[in-house]
Amino acid sequence: DAPGLIDRYGRSATDLRISLTDFCNLRCTYCMPASGMTFLRGEQLLSREEIVRLVRIGVESFGVDQVRFTGGEPLTRPDLAEIIAGVAALDPRPNIALTTNAIGLDARAAALAEAGLDRINVSLDTVVAETFETMTRRPLLHRVLAGIDGALAAGLSPVKINAVLLPGVNDHELPDLLSWCLDRGLELRVIEQMPLDADRIWDRDHMVTAAGMREILSERFVLTPAAVERAGAPAELFDVADRASGEHRGRVGTIASVTEPFCADCRRTRLTAEGRVRTCLFSHEETDLRTALRGGASDEEIADIWRAAQWGKPAGHGMDTAVFTPPERPMSAIGG
Ligand code: GTP
Ligand code: 5AD
Ligand code: SF4
Repeated sequence: DAPGLIDRYGRSATDLRISLTDFCNLRCTYCMPASGMTFLRGEQLLSREEIVRLVRIGVESFGVDQVRFTGGEPLTRPDLAEIIAGVAALDPRPNIALTTNAIGLDARAAALAEAGLDRINVSLDTVVAETFETMTRRPLLHRVLAGIDGALAAGLSPVKINAVLLPGVNDHELPDLLSWCLDRGLELRVIEQMPLDADRIWDRDHMVTAAGMREILSERFVLTPAAVERAGAPAELFDVADRASGEHRGRVGTIASVTEPFCADCRRTRLTAEGRVRTCLFSHEETDLRTALRGGASDEEIADIWRAAQWGKPAGHGMDTAVFTPPERPMSAIGG
């Protein structure tokens, strides 16, 4: 059996998250500067073959059973379907997920599902066009909504919605956003903002906490902890009933990275779009695999470099400590 990808705190990473590009067609305030960034290009990015090889090494050497493609915006990679097909052909085949803003997904959802995509998480903070433009700096809500419809029509399931809450911007819309999701059978997860933005706008004293989210929702809904195994997942799930009618409507999740960290159960290892291992969202170190990949290293040599990197994974993000400093890269360049 695969010996696993373990760290010095005894955690074993079986969940691989790969950023396919740092480019994005939105400019969410909590993720990227308004001016954009100098994006990676051409040879700097891992190729489809390199990505599939690294996933194969993860599957064969470490028992990786869950792969998630992120970005930037992974739909901006023209070869996304081929990458997915390459990973779907591995044996054993990992579960394949995508975290996306859904722009352009309507045209591609069927092909991605056909290639082997199992499930998707769509980043959508609001269904109000003005708020969307404030948060993403682009007037493209209609394209996201079309993308979600396309994913549902292609039979992708589940489709989850990720919403980051910003105080005074979209927090008051939360009950309406949840209603909208429940009406469509979408699982909403509401996310605490983390200090991963380029403009350093994060401020612990001005963020919506998971407790605050539950309080906002309790105006219209009754939440009860759901009887599900959490298994290292960021989201804590609740069953949702209408407060007025008592009718069961579905589920909602909260992701309390800041106030209720889940680092002790973390099963994640990450690859950046230029092929570096990042063991934690908040790491200050990255370990290059691309040079070894392009220099003719064997699978075992690459696995050894990756293993050594993961061993040094920090115990947690340490946001509560006096020495905490956010990472250099914003979320867009890490891959959520
Ligand atoms: P599933 O529950 O399996 O669908 O995946 P997921 O929730 O890990 O995936 P997704 O990419 O949708 O991530 C949702 C949110 O969880 C992200 O926007 C982050 O805010 C948060 N998140 C994901 N991975 C981590 C992590 O390693 N650490 C922390 N603190 N937050 C994370
Ligand atoms: N804090 C929390 N979540 C974030 N995301 C992006 N930036 C942040 C942040 N600063 C989320 C997006 C997306 C996922 C990839 O990461 O909402 O769903
Ligand atoms: Fe894992 Fe780091 Fe995220 Fe904590 S902050 S859950 S250790 S990746």
